[in-house]
Amino acid sequence: MKYNGYAYIYTIGCQMNVYDSEKLASILTSYGFEKTNDMDKADIVVCNTCSIRHKAEEKAFSFLGRFAKIKKRKPHLITVMAGCVAQQEGKKAFDRIPHLDIVLGTQAFSRFGQSIDAVKSGKQRVVDTKDSQMIYESLPDTSCFDENKTSRFVTIMQGCDNFCTYCVVPYVRGRERSRKPESIIEEISLLAKAGVKEVTLLGQNVNSYGQKEDQISFVQLLAKINKINGIHRIRFATSHPKDLSMDLVYAIRDLDKVCNHLHLPVQSGSNKILKKMNRGYTREKYMDRILDLKKQCPDIALSTDIIVGFPSETNEDFNDTMNLLREIEFDSIYAFAYSDRSSAPAAKFSEQIDEKEKRERLNTLLQLQEHYTEKKNKKLIGKTLEVLVEGKSIKKRDGFKQIRKNLEQMVGRSESNKIVHFPSEHVTISDIIKIKIEEAYPHSLWGHPVGA
Ligand code: 5AD
Ligand code: SF4
Repeated sequence: MKYNGYAYIYTIGCQMNVYDSEKLASILTSYGFEKTNDMDKADIVVCNTCSIRHKAEEKAFSFLGRFAKIKKRKPHLITVMAGCVAQQEGKKAFDRIPHLDIVLGTQAFSRFGQSIDAVKSGKQRVVDTKDSQMIYESLPDTSCFDENKTSRFVTIMQGCDNFCTYCVVPYVRGRERSRKPESIIEEISLLAKAGVKEVTLLGQNVNSYGQKEDQISFVQLLAKINKINGIHRIRFATSHPKDLSMDLVYAIRDLDKVCNHLHLPVQSGSNKILKKMNRGYTREKYMDRILDLKKQCPDIALSTDIIVGFPSETNEDFNDTMNLLREIEFDSIYAFAYSDRSSAPAAKFSEQIDEKEKRERLNTLLQLQEHYTEKKNKKLIGKTLEVLVEGKSIKKRDGFKQIRKNLEQMVGRSESNKIVHFPSEHVTISDIIKIKIEEAYPHSLWGHPVGA
């Protein structure tokens, strides 16, 4: 059916959700809705949710909760909970949000239109959390793109078979399945034609891309994408240390468009905790992978994910993680306090850590890393980096912070994924320019264009 009206989409969570929200946006467009950034104008509101940690889940409930009042004066407004929390909660979502119209699970996106039709024809409380082994495939609707056409995400696989004991992903996103290479190539070629210069390939464990389907490997896929005209940079996330192959290390070294940066989540530096997390590698194995990477790609930028306060983590275990940071000197880290998820096995583990203790460990860890992040950034002073221009750097917009307050400045990223600010003259979005780095801050760099 075709409708008219405005659609507002609110996205919580990871890059994959950003990608999925675009799919939801293009379905809504095909049903006649126009995307708006003004929530007050909306006739349909979609919250694309994340359940990885308690805080993200609460954010979804509190966002959708506020529509109870709004729906009283605007009864035709359709409210939708989509994604991971929807999949996890199913019809239980109505207990907390009685005014909700649609609960759309992670594998129900292709049937979103049918749910809207059902609500429009008078059905109340539509729930679709059915499993699907298929990946919802549709080519991107480039007219739905927001202002950032420079860099786009492309999901290449969904779900996960790894069952780390703290993680809800295998339960809310289902088993691992990979997209067909032809469809990925077609999508990226289309993005390139629309002016996209950088793609980030997404999957929970990109290293095992295509293995179940007996398709080409991830490294072979990278080699194909490397040949697409117009694409200048290829990034990917996430790699699982247990499946990181030497072939991938060589691909990072040899394929010119593959960025010299790897995000390799370690989660903990303690072998006892890694085992309890079911990560499938030891601290020593992880260190070996890092040595391989540093040997083959000496300038590689490394980032990681860490969880502190996993059940039974002692001060000694925590110190193992601190020491791992000291040994590796990551360029950046994403660190989280362990969040108990009732559907994940670790929720039943004994020796849960006190919340205050988790916070303290998190702060200690972040403080230590701040030192290395700044140290790595300072090393770049005097160097010339190739930067892909992403936009104007406006205070606090998209997490960018303007360094020079009274100066019009632009922001972009280096190949190693560092945020670089510079004066904006003669530069436009999507340019790839050389910047000589003059100053380094904990989370960004500052410099001037050279050879312009
Ligand atoms: N608590 C805290 N952090 C978690 N992550 C996944 N599950 C949890 C949890 N229950 C983190 C991991 C993962 C990242 C995406 O989120 O570090 O790599
Ligand atoms: Fe979760 Fe582990 Fe799968 Fe990553 S690899 S999505 S942490 S289960």
